[in-house]
Amino acid sequence: MTDTHIELSEDEFDQQYPLIENPFDPHASWAFDDRPGCLFGTFGQEIRFVSQQDPRTIWTLVDGDDGDQYVVSGFHFVNRVGYLVSKVPVPDGMTIEVRIINNQPQENTMQRTATVNPFYAARFTRISSTPAETYKPIFARLPRAPVNGSPVPHLTSLYHFHRAGEYGDRSYPGNCSGNLIKDLLQFFRPDGLILDPMSGSGTCAHVCQELKIPCMAWDIHRGIDACDPEGFSDAEAFDFIWAHPPYWRMKLYADDPRDLSRAPTLEDFLRRYRQFIRNCTAVLKPGGKLAILMGDYQDRQAGYVPLTYHTKRLAFECGLTQHCTDIVRFSHGASSSRKVYRSSFIPGLHDLCMVFEKPA
Ligand SMILES: C[S@@+](CC[C@H](N)C(=O)[O-])C[C@H]1O[C@@H](n2cnc3c(N)ncnc32)[C@H](O)[C@@H]1O
Repeated sequence: MTDTHIELSEDEFDQQYPLIENPFDPHASWAFDDRPGCLFGTFGQEIRFVSQQDPRTIWTLVDGDDGDQYVVSGFHFVNRVGYLVSKVPVPDGMTIEVRIINNQPQENTMQRTATVNPFYAARFTRISSTPAETYKPIFARLPRAPVNGSPVPHLTSLYHFHRAGEYGDRSYPGNCSGNLIKDLLQFFRPDGLILDPMSGSGTCAHVCQELKIPCMAWDIHRGIDACDPEGFSDAEAFDFIWAHPPYWRMKLYADDPRDLSRAPTLEDFLRRYRQFIRNCTAVLKPGGKLAILMGDYQDRQAGYVPLTYHTKRLAFECGLTQHCTDIVRFSHGASSSRKVYRSSFIPGLHDLCMVFEKPA
């Protein structure tokens, strides 16, 4: 009998096959948040441990010929990078493959069709790195913040909490930590209504519920287009808007052409993003704040796209001013941190929260 072959996305794999952590190597790759990594090596006690597990729970991370990597159910040798062990066994008679898309731009590429994002490049040429150095966590000493009257003293320009908090749905693609939203709300103490026009799994609404602040949450998944050229109907109704738009096509969200992540070109994305910021500005009360969380993006076709720069440019064009320092949010738990790259690049490990104000 031939096996049924199934392809899963990385998110589906994470949800359906939670992994056990590697107890032998504190620097193991494939780590979630600040937890130990889950990738097992191919020799010594690590491979002995893997081979003693239920074969249906073993997965092999392999280098694909196309430049991407694949997690394939079962124990394999060819092109292996390491092994994963899931807590849940793969059903008998089934082979599962998960493509780990390599999203770093590179010159020597070949054309291929990606299942998730066609702009993430595959590559032929690889530059070897030093894995031990790549995986070692680094503990940096943060600058001391001046004592001041802030009701949230830990809220500084460097936002480094690794625990996301129990808000929203952590498995929702692009889900962000509710702690930053909570800190911002506790700092600004908005009087009235909050809006999250691209709410995803509802993280902001959950925080507001906890803080007992009224909040409206919309999303294209609920049929509300926040980039609608007609704007929103509620003029100057909101004291604070939390906005976490797609980082262009880094993740694709809804199967709806109005979804900002589906913008076919950068020009189109920026045109619709400007409309989004204009819509938000129109419904802010004078003196109200718009906090936008955005990260830069790159892919093979578009190159490096400084979306944080564009955010400021567009916000200023819409008549907003910047209210305070940028908040650099450390990207703990980003799915890209779990990947193993052989190529050489400077990893971006943060995104940026920018707080704008509508002049009174
Ligand atoms: C980065 S995610 C937000 C995730 C959210 N902060 C959370 O914690 O779950 C971006 C969201 O924008 C939504 N979106 C994209 N285009 C939109 C549009 N034109 N109007 C409204 N929502 C849109 C997507 O569906 C997605 O849920």
